[in-house]
Amino acid sequence: MDRAVLSERPPKPAAAEACSVSAVVDGRRSIRRFLDAPVDRALVEDVVRRAARAPSGSNVQPWAVRIVDGERMDALRAMMRRLRAERPEGEPLDPPYQPPAGPPPEFQRRRLRNGEILYGALGIDRSDAAARAAWNEENFQFFGAPAGVFLLMRRECVAWQWLDLGIYLQTLLLLFEEAGLGTCPQADWAMHGEAVASFLGVDPAFRLPVGVAVGIPDLTAPENRIRTERDDPLADDPDASPPPPGAFPC
Ligand SMILES: Cc1cc2nc3c(=O)[nH]c(=O)nc-3n(C[C@H](O)[C@H](O)[C@H](O)COP(=O)(O)O)c2cc1C
Repeated sequence: MDRAVLSERPPKPAAAEACSVSAVVDGRRSIRRFLDAPVDRALVEDVVRRAARAPSGSNVQPWAVRIVDGERMDALRAMMRRLRAERPEGEPLDPPYQPPAGPPPEFQRRRLRNGEILYGALGIDRSDAAARAAWNEENFQFFGAPAGVFLLMRRECVAWQWLDLGIYLQTLLLLFEEAGLGTCPQADWAMHGEAVASFLGVDPAFRLPVGVAVGIPDLTAPENRIRTERDDPLADDPDASPPPPGAFPC
């Protein structure tokens, strides 16, 4: 058998790890304010590389990654301030963010609830469009994070490879969580994907679907203390036992 197929590392028992997968999955949340402290570039690179253990259909690994920090981050932020002033509507999204016929009602409900929780924590009233818009601009500054990770994918990829990219993304988020770093995945970067990819000197064969803010979480910030809700994924499975009373939404 080809040597490369055989792992030389013995399997590690989960109990030997400092924290369980369950604890990391449960503990992760989107972080939108960071301490003014740099993160170790070597650690970010290590996490990005280890996340490549994520599975993908036929193992095509349809992702490529760019890390931005330090002076390059300062330059990106300056570029984004200019760009947002010039072109706040961004580039047309491909594929579109919503289904052409509009989002299903449960998506709408969850989206509204999510906004209620986040803007409630921030003390921004639903009717205060100016405050919401100002907050939204923070997306394009990586919420002040010292590092940003952009995921790239070849343009010809179809839905199956987007599925793979999502698995890579979650693996990345969980490994950062395990390393003690906070993250926020941000599809908003796709609104300026072409401009950012060009700033980064990315091969035009690739698109930029998502950026991830990375840094040390400011745990005093109310926006970092929220816990977003989840519905029961088995709610429509007639064979599933009912969840314990009061378990959902959780
Ligand atoms: C693919 C993807 C794109 C997202 N894009 C944004 C974004 O552009 N801006 C933002 O503030 N949050 C963004 N989020 C974060 C979601 O709002 C967040 O994951 C969701 O509300 C659940 O909260 P939690 O991450 O704290 O569990 C994104 C999340 C994912 C998975």
